[in-house]
Amino acid sequence: MRDEAIYRDRFVVSDPSIIYLDGNSLGRLPKRTAELVPQVLQQQWGSELIGSWNKHWLALSTRIGDKIGRIIGASAGTTIVCDSTSVNLYKLAKGFLHRDRSRQVILTDRSNFPTDQYILQGLALDASQDGELRRICLDDVPPEYAIDRIADALSDDVGLVSLSHVHYKSGMALDLARITRLVQDRGAAMLWDISHSVGAMPIDIEKSGAYGAVGCTYKYLNGGPGAPAFLYVRSDLQDVVCNPIQGWFGAARPFDFGEDYSPATGVQRFLVGTPPILSMAAIEPGVDLVLEAGISWLRSRSLGMTEYLIEQYDVRLLPRGYRLQTPRDPIYRGSHVSLQHEHAWPITQALIHEHMVIPDFRQPDTIRFGITPLYTTYDELDRAVDALVNVLEQRQHLHYPRERQGVT
Ligand SMILES: Cc1ncc(COP(=O)(O)O)c(C=O)c1O
Repeated sequence: MRDEAIYRDRFVVSDPSIIYLDGNSLGRLPKRTAELVPQVLQQQWGSELIGSWNKHWLALSTRIGDKIGRIIGASAGTTIVCDSTSVNLYKLAKGFLHRDRSRQVILTDRSNFPTDQYILQGLALDASQDGELRRICLDDVPPEYAIDRIADALSDDVGLVSLSHVHYKSGMALDLARITRLVQDRGAAMLWDISHSVGAMPIDIEKSGAYGAVGCTYKYLNGGPGAPAFLYVRSDLQDVVCNPIQGWFGAARPFDFGEDYSPATGVQRFLVGTPPILSMAAIEPGVDLVLEAGISWLRSRSLGMTEYLIEQYDVRLLPRGYRLQTPRDPIYRGSHVSLQHEHAWPITQALIHEHMVIPDFRQPDTIRFGITPLYTTYDELDRAVDALVNVLEQRQHLHYPRERQGVT
C-alpha cells in the first residue's frame, strides 16, 4: 500500500528511467493539458477567433482563480490568476503599504526568494523618505523561534511584512496563522508568498486573516513553464486597496475605452493587461488534479515521503557527509527535502548525468529534492538515495567542474 501513486498515470512520463525530483521548480505535464492546449489553439483561436474572448477567455482568470482559492482556503471572488508572482507581489505590497503613510518600513527575511527581496527593495526606495526594507534572518533560527524573531523586529513604523510560507531553499514552513495574527495585531499588513506550499500542503489563508498572498502555478500546481501566477486579497480590502498598476483589465469597464481609470470592484481590480490565454488555459487541468486528489491526501502522502527520505538520510547519507537542511518536525516542513554538501554542485551534475536523477541546486551548497505527491514514487526516492551514495563512493562528482553553469 505504501506506493499509492494513483495519479501518476495522469501525467506525461515519457521516460520512466528519469527520476524527476524537481516538481517544486517545474511540475510535470498533465496528460489533460497536453490534450487541451491543441484544442484551445485549433478550436478557440483557430476557428472561433475573437469570439473566444466572450465565449471562453474572459472568464479564465476568475474561474481558475476560484479553483486555486479552494486549494488555499479562500472563498470565491478572492483569488485571481494574472501576471507573474513578482508583479503580483509588487501590486499587493505597494497597495497595502499605501493604506497608512506613517508606516513605510517593510519587513522581510534576508534569505527570502530573491525576487521578493528585489521587489521590496525597490518599493522601499520608491517610498517617501521613511521607506526602509528591514531584513531579519530566518534561515539560521530553529523554526519554532522564527516568530520571536519577527516579533522582535516589529516596530510601530512597520507597515508591511512579506514572507514566504515555505522557504525555497531549506523547505522550512513558517506558522502562517500565528505569524499573521502577530503581525496584524501589531498594525502591519501581512503578505504571503505561498509559491512553495500551494498544492502541497493545507493553507487556510482566509481564516488566517492575512491581507494577501501571491504564488506560482508552475510548481505543485503543474501549470507549465512561465504560467501566470495568482493573487489573493481579503474580501473586505478589495475595494479599499488600490492596484498601483492601473491597466485596462483592472478597470471597471475596460471595453468602454474611457479616458480616465476607474477601478473594477472586487479582486478583478488587481488585473493589469490582456492575459496570456494559452498559458493560462494550460493551468486548469493541473489545478483540477490537485482538487481531485484533495489537499489532505496530498499532504499526508507528501509528509510520508519527506519523512522516508529523512530516515534514509539518517542511515545512508549523514555518514557520507551530507547535511539535512530541512526541519525534522513535520509541522515545519514543506514538500521538499534539502541536503547540503560542500560539493553540492558537482554532485548534482553527477546525479543528473550518471544516474538520471533530477533534483536542483541552490547556491552555495544546497541540493533540493522536490516531492510532488501526485506523481513522485517511493521507488524514485530509493533510487535517488542510491545515487547520492554511489556518486560519492565512486567519486563521480570529481568528473564535473566545481563551478556552477546554467540552470538546474
Ligand atoms: C518563492 C518564490 N517566489 C517567487 C518566484 C518567482 O516567481 P515569478 O518568476 O513567477 O515572478 C519563485 C520562483 O521560483 C519562488 O520560488
